[in-house]
Amino acid sequence: MATAASATHLPPVGAHERDEVGRQLQATLVELIDLSLVGKQFHWTVVGPNFRSLHLQLDELVDAWRTLSDTVAERAVALGSFPDGQANAVVEGPGRPALGVGPIPDTEVVNELLRRVAEVSERTRTRAERLAELDLVSQDVLIDVLRALEQQQWMLRAQLGHARDA
Ligand SMILES: [Fe+2]
Repeated sequence: MATAASATHLPPVGAHERDEVGRQLQATLVELIDLSLVGKQFHWTVVGPNFRSLHLQLDELVDAWRTLSDTVAERAVALGSFPDGQANAVVEGPGRPALGVGPIPDTEVVNELLRRVAEVSERTRTRAERLAELDLVSQDVLIDVLRALEQQQWMLRAQLGHARDA
C-alpha cells in the first residue's frame, strides 16, 4: 500500500510533523531576514574609527544571513511546507525594536549586533533541539545556521575584547 508520502513524492514525514517543522523553519527564516535588513542599516549608518572594517564586515554578515535564509526556506519547500519571507512576515517576527535612523557609533553597532545575533542563536538552538524528534534533515539545516551564528557571536565578542562573557 502506498503511503501518503510516497503517493506525493514528498519526504516521508507525517503531515503533523511537517507542519511543526515548517513552523520552526519559518521562525528561523524571518529572524535571518531581519538580521540581514538590520545589518544593511548598520552598514550604512555606522560611524567612528572602525567605520571601514565594520562597513565591510557588515556586508559579509548580510551575505551570510541571506545565504542561510535561502537554505532554510528551500528546506521548508523540499519538505512540502511553504515559507513566507515577505516584509509582513518579518514584522510579525520576534525581532528587536527598529533602529533609530541616524549615525550609530561603531562600538554601539558591535554591541547591538552581538545582542541580536545571540538572541537569534539561542532561539535557533531551541528549535534545532525540537527538530531532533521531527526531522533530522531540517535539524541539520538549523545546526548549520547555529554554527554560523555562534561563530559570528565569537567574532563580535572578540571585537569587544570579551574572552568568554558577552
Ligand atoms: Fe554598500
